Amino acid sequence: MNENLIIPTHVGIIVDGNGRWAQMRGLSRSEGHKAGLFRLKEICIYAKELGIKYLSLYVFSTENFKREKKEVQYLMNLFVNLYNDEFQELINNGIKVIFSGRKNPLPRKVLDAMDKIVENSADNSEMVVNFCLNYGGQTELLDMTKKIVQQVVDGKKKIDDITLDTIQENLYQKLPMLDYVIRTGGELRLSNFMLYQASYAEFYFPKIYFPDFKKNDFYYAIVEFNKRNRRFGGNAS
Ligand code: FPP
Repeated sequence: MNENLIIPTHVGIIVDGNGRWAQMRGLSRSEGHKAGLFRLKEICIYAKELGIKYLSLYVFSTENFKREKKEVQYLMNLFVNLYNDEFQELINNGIKVIFSGRKNPLPRKVLDAMDKIVENSADNSEMVVNFCLNYGGQTELLDMTKKIVQQVVDGKKKIDDITLDTIQENLYQKLPMLDYVIRTGGELRLSNFMLYQASYAEFYFPKIYFPDFKKNDFYYAIVEFNKRNRRFGGNAS
């Protein structure tokens, strides 16, 4: 590992290409998700080793409920079964797991598994992994707006006291802004991922399907981040 690399504090990954990875091999889409899950765990632990403090993973969007019932069911069961194996490994690695997204219409068994994971990893402090599950960026902004309006209606907040910090505090999770967003699979879109948090993020779009996104690809992504000149709207240096 290169000691001189600048490590971004908050990295987001749009997990994409599981289906195409499977299709290329004549496998079912479910097999692609299973392979993606293995890779996801590896990437989380490697991110911790690199010194990344926050990792947000876009694993299931609100729109993904429109997929075939069989695929949605497979993914829901995968989330539940994860609790026993994969998530335990993350927890044993000192990783705190949190979730972003709407609860409705996630099945009860998924919500229960999520609660257990959050509870059992709450005291961990090595790194935070934020799973964006049943997540949509526009919906997050809508929910945030409603929360703030309610505070004003209840007399707990004055309109003039609403600042950018108020927005950040009322999103699904209190997280730092994203420094870097990686989308695997070759598509060049944000697809409703953390719209507010990504305001000043750098972007990277490797043409690799997620199950093939190995540790060295992630490392290369961080090297690429180090080539960027972040100005946050200021002058070029
Ligand atoms: C995108 O690939 C991937 C998903 C919609 C699901 C991602 C899920 C996992 C990696 C399983 C692990 C889940 C958790 C919560 C830890 P795609 O199916 O859109 O691929 P395609 O664009 O090639 O069709």
